[in-house]
Amino acid sequence: MRAALFDRYGPPEVLYEGEVAEPEVPPGHVLVRVHAASVNGGEVMGRSGRVKLLLGPRFPKRVGIDFAGEVVSGPGFAPGTPVWGGLPRGRFGSAAEYVAVDPRQLAPSPAGLDLVRAAALPGVGTTAITALRDKARLRPGERLLVRGASGGVGSVAVQLGKAYGAHVTALTSGRAFDFVRELGADEVVDYRTDPAGLGRYDVVLDTYGSTPGAYRRLLGPGGRMVGIAFRSAADLGYLLASAVFGPRRVRFFSGNPKTALFADLTALVESGAIRPVVDTVHPLSRVAEAHRALEAGGVRGKHVIDVITATG
Ligand SMILES: NC(=O)c1ccc[n+]([C@@H]2O[C@H](COP(=O)([O-])OP(=O)(O)OC[C@H]3O[C@@H](n4cnc5c(N)ncnc54)[C@H](OP(=O)(O)O)[C@@H]3O)[C@@H](O)[C@H]2O)c1
Repeated sequence: MRAALFDRYGPPEVLYEGEVAEPEVPPGHVLVRVHAASVNGGEVMGRSGRVKLLLGPRFPKRVGIDFAGEVVSGPGFAPGTPVWGGLPRGRFGSAAEYVAVDPRQLAPSPAGLDLVRAAALPGVGTTAITALRDKARLRPGERLLVRGASGGVGSVAVQLGKAYGAHVTALTSGRAFDFVRELGADEVVDYRTDPAGLGRYDVVLDTYGSTPGAYRRLLGPGGRMVGIAFRSAADLGYLLASAVFGPRRVRFFSGNPKTALFADLTALVESGAIRPVVDTVHPLSRVAEAHRALEAGGVRGKHVIDVITATG
C-alpha cells in the first residue's frame, strides 16, 4: 500500500510517498481504509530528529497519528462505516492507505461530513474537549483566553469555548484576527501583547507554551490554566511544578483519546457546535509540502493529507 515515509531524520524533504506492506490486523482489531490524516506538531518534531533518542534509528519511519476513513472489516462496525480515530500514543502511520486500529480508539464520524475534511478534527478536537471540558471544567459565562487561537487546537477551542457559553478572547497573530472572529471569538488580541496587560480570566488554554508563568498570573480566584505544549525545558519544569504546587494549579496532559471522546466529538459536530477547519488539503505525494507549510507558521486550522484521491 501507499504510505508517507522517511528514511532519515531531517527537513520536510526527507518525506516521500512509498510502498509498504498492508498492516497485519491483530485479533479484535478493525481494518480502516484511510481517506485522510492530519499533520500534527509532534510528528513534525519527530521527523526533524529533535527527539531521535526517543524514536530510535530504525527506518523507514511513518507519519500520521489521527485519521478519517471507512471500515473494511473488524468487530463492532459494518463494512463501509465512516469512522475517525487515532493511533495509540507513540505509534505513527495513519498517512497511509490502511490502518489496523483497536476499536477502543475509533468512533463513527459525523453523518454527512466529507471524510477528507473530517480528518482535520480527531486529534485537535479531542484535545480541545479534554482541555476545556475535562481539565478546566469551563462553565457558561466564564472568561476564557485561548493562546494560539488560529492553530489546530486553538481554532477548535475558540468554537468549543463559545459552544460551552464562555466569553472567548483569542490571542493570535495580527494576520489572523478576521479568521478567529469568524470562528466566534468575542475579543481578539495580538499575541505579542505584554501578558501583564491582558486582564483577568477564569480559564487560560495555552497551546503555545512559552513563559507559562506570565499567563498563569492572569487567572482570577478559582481560575484554571491548561497547558498542552512547552517551548523549553524551563517551561516544562514550570508546568510540572505548578501542576503539583501552588493555589492555581496548571493542568498539563498528553492526549491518548478513546472511543467515548471521539463519539463526543462526533456529537459536537452533528449538533453544529464545531466544524473542521482546514487550512490546506495536500495529496499524499506532497506530504513534504504539508510539513513545510506547518513549519512555516501562519496556519489556519489544520493541514490535511488526502490519501484517498491519489489511491482511488
Ligand atoms: N498535549 C497534547 O495532548 C497535545 C495535543 C495536540 C497538540 N499538542 C501540541 O500543542 C501545540 C499546539 O498544537 P496545534 O496543533 O494547535 O499547533 P499549530 O497548529 O502549529 O498552532 C500553533 C499556534 O501558535 C501560534 N503562535 C506562534 N507563535 C506564538 C506566540 N509567540 N504566542 C502565541 N501563539 C503563537 C501560531 O500562530 P502563527 O503561526 O500565526 O504565528 C499558531 O496559530 C503543538 O506543540 C502540539 O504538538 C499537544
